[in-house]
Amino acid sequence: MKILITAGPTREPLDPVRFISNRSTGKMGFALAQAAAEAGHTVTLVAGPVTLPTPAGVRRIDVCTALEMLDAVTQALPACEAFISCAAVADWRPETCSSTKLKKSEMSGTLRLVRNPDILRTVRPLKGTRKFVGFAAETGEPTAEAARKLRDKGLDLIVANDVTAPGAGFATETNRVTLLTPDGSREALPLMDKLEVARRIIAWLEA
Ligand code: C5P
Repeated sequence: MKILITAGPTREPLDPVRFISNRSTGKMGFALAQAAAEAGHTVTLVAGPVTLPTPAGVRRIDVCTALEMLDAVTQALPACEAFISCAAVADWRPETCSSTKLKKSEMSGTLRLVRNPDILRTVRPLKGTRKFVGFAAETGEPTAEAARKLRDKGLDLIVANDVTAPGAGFATETNRVTLLTPDGSREALPLMDKLEVARRIIAWLEA
């Protein structure tokens, strides 16, 4: 298969030195890219700003903002059979971005934000027979919210995890996830290496 994967956070600049972002490190998305490439698939990895090396054999496109990620996904998707949206896309961006560093005296203490597009929802008209996999990172029991997102975003699989659980979430080597599909089936996987979680997700796509 040709598989498109997004990974990492997005970074929404306020000026050349300041930005809004989140705690995603890209580990889960890069593990997916590695697992897919090792299984013989052709992988395009759209990566937000992270410090990880590119897995062997993977075509990587680096982006910064959610709008840049949407653009890269829109261009790459038509040639792919599956899209795994693992990136922690920033939901909001500053309304304006200054080309020079804002001075404290120019800042009011109130930051005006505008919504970023939801990438999965935006590219849904291009879905066709492609398989779409999403992630739901929640704080606390994640499956109810994940089931809602699965329906809402028209996904074939959603990977739910509680980012506050021991050994799960951002910057860890391991993850504990539950796989949910539209037919209502749920598979709770034990705590395992992110690469092992990634192999399970790629195996699901292959099946
Ligand atoms: O709604 P929420 O952000 O929790 O949904 C998570 C899923 O949606 C992830 O698969 C993420 O990559 C995707 N997403 C997106 N565009 C956004 C926000 C999230 O595609 N702006």
